[in-house]
Amino acid sequence: MAALVEVKDICKIYNPGENEVRALDHVSVSIQEKEFVAIIGHSGSGKSTLMNMLGCLDVPTSGSYFLHGKDVSRMSDDELSDVRNREIGFIFQGFNLIANLTALENVELPLIYRGVGKKERRELAEAALEKVGLGQRMSHKPSEMSGGQQQRVAIARAIAQAPPVILADEPTGNLDSGSTKEIMSILKQLHREGRTVILITHDNDIAAQARRVIRIKDGKIEADFEQQVEDW
Ligand SMILES: Nc1ncnc2c1ncn2[C@@H]1O[C@H](COP(=O)(O)OP(=O)(O)O)[C@@H](O)[C@H]1O
Ligand SMILES: [Mg+2]
Repeated sequence: MAALVEVKDICKIYNPGENEVRALDHVSVSIQEKEFVAIIGHSGSGKSTLMNMLGCLDVPTSGSYFLHGKDVSRMSDDELSDVRNREIGFIFQGFNLIANLTALENVELPLIYRGVGKKERRELAEAALEKVGLGQRMSHKPSEMSGGQQQRVAIARAIAQAPPVILADEPTGNLDSGSTKEIMSILKQLHREGRTVILITHDNDIAAQARRVIRIKDGKIEADFEQQVEDW
């Protein structure tokens, strides 16, 4: 079976020319469906750049990227945004919720962009919020929720339309240890249900919970291994 994610020899160079930054330097990765992978590295190692490539938010300077067998490294902006909408649920460190919308409206918003009708949209958003344990908080605004709750809203938004890939960049970076545990257990649950989870982190304790770890340093893959994990 073809890999879900097949990155071959990609480079990403910012500011080509004199002050160029080689943020990714000949990176190759393949990820199968239903894996739970942590990508770990220090600050500045290229994690977010790699996430931007994997998430089709940006294209590499060279190399190729096949997602579900389709070459996304040569797609136009419109095609990329289409692939993003269909294939990927994003979760960011800073939650990226809209302050003046309720939890329910935040989860519904991307569904509006995808042209999902009102009734179905409401049902999908409610189901996603129930799933992350926020059934009682749907009409709250972000400022009325804890950081952990806000991140759960962001997860609900990411999973509402059941994308095959969940891509999370430092999802627990702004959270206390209790909320971190909650978020990790939701991600593990999604994984058990068959989603592919790619989790970017600089935190060894988080990476220790993933079955596979890819370590990146100075834009290069330094290690890529599977490990035994407790608590699954
Ligand atoms: N838009 C950009 N323009 C120029 N340099 C960038 C840009 N984004 C990231 N970089 C540089 O690329 C390198 C990798 O950054 P990044 O992928 O954000 O690392 P990480 O997420 O691991 O902290 C760093 O040296 C960073 O300064
Ligand atoms: Mg980063």
